[in-house]
Amino acid sequence: MNNEKPIGVFDSGIGGLSVLKQFVRFLPFEKYIYLGDTGRVPYGNKSAETIKRYAKESVEFLKSKDVKLIIIACNTVSSVALDAVEQSSNVPFIGMIHPAVAAALRATQNNKLGIIGTRGTIASKAYNTTISQLGNTSSISITARACPLFVPLVEEGPDWIAHPSTRLIAEEYLKDFLVEGIDTLILGCTHYPFLHQLLSEILPGVALIDSGEHSAVGAIKLLAEMGALAAEKNEFLKKPDIDFFFTDIPVNFYDTAPRLLGFPIESPHRINLGQ
Ligand code: DGL
Repeated sequence: MNNEKPIGVFDSGIGGLSVLKQFVRFLPFEKYIYLGDTGRVPYGNKSAETIKRYAKESVEFLKSKDVKLIIIACNTVSSVALDAVEQSSNVPFIGMIHPAVAAALRATQNNKLGIIGTRGTIASKAYNTTISQLGNTSSISITARACPLFVPLVEEGPDWIAHPSTRLIAEEYLKDFLVEGIDTLILGCTHYPFLHQLLSEILPGVALIDSGEHSAVGAIKLLAEMGALAAEKNEFLKKPDIDFFFTDIPVNFYDTAPRLLGFPIESPHRINLGQ
């Protein structure tokens, strides 16, 4: 295994930059290829059939870049299309669901879990299925809720995240979780970690599980098992080694994407998929 091969990170758009950020944090010596399907986002309301087709095309693209590992940063793809990814990939891959569920099961004290995600993620029940595979379901109660307005609000930026109307929407979305008395909430969408502060104010004392963070920790273990961790570099890493590919560069791209990533996005490539 060539340890210097890149890790491919795939998302429906720019939300997956929150996941990439966690990977750069935990695995700073790796090279990355980030693919955002900005021309066809959002995936959250699309049918499973369409998302599977898009996912296959993206995996083909990442394979053409000779990646050693593929990260399915999009929770919606991780929920409805991992079988399609598996069919088209001979490269190991990590989705968002399994690492988040394992972390939630470790975190909960009262076995009352909450899940928030896109409509597609929640309707798929992928988190529920994984909870029943990894946990003792008879004693675990699950409350799940789609929160489709969170994605555009996060992309609108800090003023909207801090706006009273966003708090009102969040309170409406989260009221059942308060009634149920959950102690752990899975943030099952790329964008939700940006609402961490607000969510923790509305649900005080509830553990918020960031799937990006836990998948990055899982990737360290997997790469180590594969003998494929990049060598630690002696020189001080001034900036992460990332090649960016997007299927569109939307008008607000340079306002939004670097904010979600936390550092500048240099020379993004514009590509076409599925043609
Ligand atoms: N990346 C998606 C997810 O994590 C959110 C944006 C979309 O709907 O495509 O589910």
